[in-house]
Amino acid sequence: MAARKLRELLETEDRSLSKLVELLAELSLRIVREIPRTLGMTEGMNIYGEQQTELDVWSNGLLTKKLLRSGLVRQVASEEMETVMTADHGEYTVALDPLDGSSNIKTNNLMGTIIGIYHDKPLPATGRDLLSALYFLYGPYVEAVVGTKSGVYLAAPAGRGTGASKFISTGEPHRLPQKGSVYGIGGSRDKWTPRVHEFADTLEKKKLKFRYGGSFVGDYNQVLCSGGFFAYPELLDAPDGKYRLQFESNPIGYITERAGGKASTGKGRILDVEPVSISQRVPTYLGNKELVSEYEDLSRTSLGLSAER
Ligand code: AHG
Ligand code: MN
Ligand code: MN
Repeated sequence: MAARKLRELLETEDRSLSKLVELLAELSLRIVREIPRTLGMTEGMNIYGEQQTELDVWSNGLLTKKLLRSGLVRQVASEEMETVMTADHGEYTVALDPLDGSSNIKTNNLMGTIIGIYHDKPLPATGRDLLSALYFLYGPYVEAVVGTKSGVYLAAPAGRGTGASKFISTGEPHRLPQKGSVYGIGGSRDKWTPRVHEFADTLEKKKLKFRYGGSFVGDYNQVLCSGGFFAYPELLDAPDGKYRLQFESNPIGYITERAGGKASTGKGRILDVEPVSISQRVPTYLGNKELVSEYEDLSRTSLGLSAER
């Protein structure tokens, strides 16, 4: 199959959506170039009380400014901003994790950018209304993983041309492999609930290999490519887990469903969570349908057990 340009992939969906995704691809390459130059920390804190790296702030500023000036985007919400930024016009609203895995800067491990795109839905929005969701993975090579209603497409800047026009794809929609072979679960083990411990044992018995690198996009991408299960679960001291619904769980949940997998809060579908705030967190369980459903059943039975006592 001849390689297809990112733009061609999306044109069938919606011309201005392909222009927006091309702009984001352009900006992802700017972020990649900036990484080695911007390795430090700032004094700043985001609304989650996390110290911001210089690259968090720089990439947030670049993406927000360029998107709001593009004429395509009316609202931008970001993990790194307290409020939603608006422009006078634009048909899309965008939720951003400008730099995911920023604690990995100092160790030169995987990082990325996560984006959710809505067609003029005010933010915070429910994941069901996502028009498209994508992430850029900054690894040994830059990879774009783009979810649209027609499927998930993988692209890399391996073609001729400059900027976004370098991104090429096979054009074949990507599906989670039938049989999962890797799993990752975030948070410290002493904070896992009995149910999470039990399910980790189950996955070990199924001979899935443990993979955890401390960046959502880096760890998730292994499941998307090799099949399996990835979670940042509810913790004993954090019942809503760590991932932000708007900026992490909804976009990656959308991609998971489009690739034939399941995206759950442990109790229900992530994309059905009605937002109560721009910064809310949700426990996040993703991967092959059978594995995520097995985890959900486990909680129903364990809850059932506790109810019987
Ligand atoms: P971000 O850098 O955007 O704040 O995201 C960090 C998240 C996620 O990328 C990763 O899976 C998780 O934090 C790692 O958390 P732990 O350090 O608790 O493992
Ligand atoms: Mn993140
Ligand atoms: Mn981030």
